Amino acid sequence: MGERIILQTSGSVDHALREAGTLEGWQRDIARYAVGNSRLALALSTAFAAPLLYPTGSESGGFHFRGASSTGKSTALVVAGSAWGGGGIRGYVRTWRATSNGLEGVAGMHCDCLLCLDEMGQVDGREAGQIAYMLANGVGKSRASRSGEARPAAEWRLLFLSSGELSLADKIAEDGRGRRAAAGQQVRIVDIPADAGAGMGMFENLHGFANADAFARHLKVAASEHYGHPTRAFLRVLVDEFDAIAPAVKDHVDEFLRDNAPAGADGQISRVAARFGLVAAAGEMATAAGILPWPEGEATRAAAWCLGDWLAHRGGIEPAEDVEAISAVRRFIELHGASRFEAMGELVPTDSQGAPIEQRIPNRAGFRRRVDGGGTEYLMLPEVWRTEVCAGLDAASVAKALIRRDYLAAGGDGKPQVKTRLPGFTSPVRCYVITPRILGDEEDEGEVRAAQRAQF
Ligand SMILES: Nc1ncnc2c1ncn2[C@@H]1O[C@H](COP(=O)(O)OP(=O)(O)O)[C@@H](O)[C@H]1O
Ligand SMILES: [Mg+2]
Repeated sequence: MGERIILQTSGSVDHALREAGTLEGWQRDIARYAVGNSRLALALSTAFAAPLLYPTGSESGGFHFRGASSTGKSTALVVAGSAWGGGGIRGYVRTWRATSNGLEGVAGMHCDCLLCLDEMGQVDGREAGQIAYMLANGVGKSRASRSGEARPAAEWRLLFLSSGELSLADKIAEDGRGRRAAAGQQVRIVDIPADAGAGMGMFENLHGFANADAFARHLKVAASEHYGHPTRAFLRVLVDEFDAIAPAVKDHVDEFLRDNAPAGADGQISRVAARFGLVAAAGEMATAAGILPWPEGEATRAAAWCLGDWLAHRGGIEPAEDVEAISAVRRFIELHGASRFEAMGELVPTDSQGAPIEQRIPNRAGFRRRVDGGGTEYLMLPEVWRTEVCAGLDAASVAKALIRRDYLAAGGDGKPQVKTRLPGFTSPVRCYVITPRILGDEEDEGEVRAAQRAQF
């Protein structure tokens, strides 16, 4: 005890864990303005959640604010970063581009801290996917050292906040080569729409500022004056109560899940909901410690609301693979339903005498016909189904996901195709029959959600 140990590293450590201004100044000019602003409150709570990963054994991961430019995304990252540090030329926030050059160094430096990554648009989709995956996985690549032995891979544990105009999934798919985000990636990097729905970008409550632009500019300036003190104060509290952290957080997360995780949700959703729960717990702990100047429950409300927004944009509580399968088929019908599907029966266009008009369907994908209960069903030819509709996906899994929901009619033999007589074919053809339900089933905002919205 009492021994002083000095760590000598091979290079100078380029960190931004600096302090300036005061905790009171930070509370007055920055933190209190997060009240009633779900995204800001979530971002700030995330800053305090990072050091809870270790004592609670939670997994690394991040939140990505996705939306149009000049909506306050970078501002939210700067605000959250100010809880940890700032100063220097760059401040606390890093960019995706800088991170791709030295991912392992940057990630290692932010172990148990918050990492803010601005502007995903600066890297290409493939790179973004790899960075996101590695960051959340917590391990870098192992490499050979100069002597040829394998050097252990760098490891870290962190939470990150990111911003970009596209979601990670769209970013990965952006080059059009059929690449898609794995379900695991979508669980680790939770995509939150930057638009909070109040017509003010990321914000919902301007606290008397003339407009959102002035509010954002104030926050950025204030974050360059006051930073670094809040997490130090928080860490002092954590150290004093270290053994009590895990059980206290667990209680809070359990309660959060009880109140906010949708019943019957898929396991991927529970994992994401638990991350929101951890963030809520951190925000409440920082509030109870007098560091976040918020009313009790604010952090939890913000996390619950953002979780709801994530769920709403994700398309329900099903596994990500199923959501993706359904949206791929929907998208194909929306794009090509009118142009590449030949009409059958009463849908066939007729001339003024009622005689059918010959249809010219270049690049035909299949047929469409009216069904008895109303609506149109689409009959897709197997080759188109495999190579186009399900491009980049496992066609058999897509069929199963659709059959489970009655979006695809299974054949009498249990096969996903149905043998059907089609115009122009001499014998019945196996095809995929998409039922009208796939386009009809879109849910409304539920009552719980409407009640939550009333709070913001
Ligand atoms: N919600 C908003 N509405 C209008 N202007 C905004 C909003 N948020 C930020 N701005 C302004 O847009 C500029 C960029 O802000 P920033 O937070 O970097 O946005 P983003 O990262 O979303 O592009 C700043 O001048 C800021 O004052
Ligand atoms: Mg920005």
